[in-house]
Amino acid sequence: MKNIVDQAGHAALIKGSHDDRAAQDFAFTLRNHITGELMPANRTIFDARAKPGYVRQHGEAPSTPQQVRAAMSADSWYRFYISTRRTSQELIWSSVIPAVEQGTPAKPAKPAGGTVTLAENFTPPRYISAIDIHCMPGGYCADRGEGDEAAGAVYDRGVYLYMSGLMGPMNDGVGQLAARWMKARLPEFAPRKILDLGCGVGHSTLAYAGQYPEAELHGLDCGAALLRYGHRRAESLGVPVHFAQGDAEHTPYADASFDLVMSHIVLHETSTRALPGIFRECWRLLRPGGVMLHIDQPRFDDSDPYATFLQENETWYNNEPFWRQYRRTDLAELAQKAGFAAEDIQSDVLTAAVVQQSQNNQKVSAESVAAKKRGFSILLAQKPAA
Ligand SMILES: C[S@@+](CC[C@H](N)C(=O)[O-])C[C@H]1O[C@@H](n2cnc3c(N)ncnc32)[C@H](O)[C@@H]1O
Repeated sequence: MKNIVDQAGHAALIKGSHDDRAAQDFAFTLRNHITGELMPANRTIFDARAKPGYVRQHGEAPSTPQQVRAAMSADSWYRFYISTRRTSQELIWSSVIPAVEQGTPAKPAKPAGGTVTLAENFTPPRYISAIDIHCMPGGYCADRGEGDEAAGAVYDRGVYLYMSGLMGPMNDGVGQLAARWMKARLPEFAPRKILDLGCGVGHSTLAYAGQYPEAELHGLDCGAALLRYGHRRAESLGVPVHFAQGDAEHTPYADASFDLVMSHIVLHETSTRALPGIFRECWRLLRPGGVMLHIDQPRFDDSDPYATFLQENETWYNNEPFWRQYRRTDLAELAQKAGFAAEDIQSDVLTAAVVQQSQNNQKVSAESVAAKKRGFSILLAQKPAA
């Protein structure tokens, strides 16, 4: 059985009292039981019950994710599974909130030199403020005004439990993975100024301090409370980061301000309409020779409608409205439309095995992994040097 004791501490993190941890442990264990033990049973139910029922009714087997959904939605086991899964997701967040409400995060021992700049009269894009993405109460943009860091504190602890600790003890597995992959692909590239779009509390942003210690790090996000907390977290870890509030599609920075503009698990949460604008913004922000890097969920290959149906549950039952469309989007095409040349674009799918290697601090060699089934999709595009 997994346990929750290993999230790395830092002065900003609030894990709570013994009772809080017991509640978190329960939510964590329940979620792991549902994803590890109950979820696989859906396949049996599909093969033994839902599919034959669909064939009897329609005269043919379901061949699209929508048809698989129609077949499964009528089944009492699937309904039980999906409602339990949704409840466990809500339980993750509610197990974290009481500790955050009562906790007083410690001040960093000495300043690291980072900053946080909140925008005046900022209105976040509706697609991010109108819904509590993956059921986090209040969503990313919840803000009770000056000094409020609650959304950041809830996200930091909650996402660790939600991801079953798979992002590593610092929740930075995706950033570590992307930074190492890029270093392997572009060993000579030495960015001096880096911008992380949709940085959240800076989990991935800080991973670049290890790979590029000379670089100046910037992070932009819509959520004020995420950024205040992210600032405290970065300072307590001794990493100077300049956090700012803004929309990734219309950032406050001048043209050609950065050598590297990137995002980590952000694009699947932005609207299909905003995506081309975010890519154009990356092009505008990059200096000649600069690099755009995005890492997120891979595209559906649509060869297995049952597998796609399961994945699409994120949209239907976990408040991820853009997940389905995003996972059918051709990012290389968007990059070309934004100005990048086809020959300057590289992409890859990093498997679960590669993610594991990265967490174990081993060399990432995506090419050595034959079965590119699960994991993250990464896209790199370089602006021509002047
Ligand atoms: C899943 S979190 C990922 C956070 C971080 N990149 C990481 O790796 O931990 C997605 C983040 O993207 C931010 N976000 C989504 N759309 C945005 C936009 N248009 N502008 C700025 N931030 C955005 C959200 O506020 C949220 O913090």
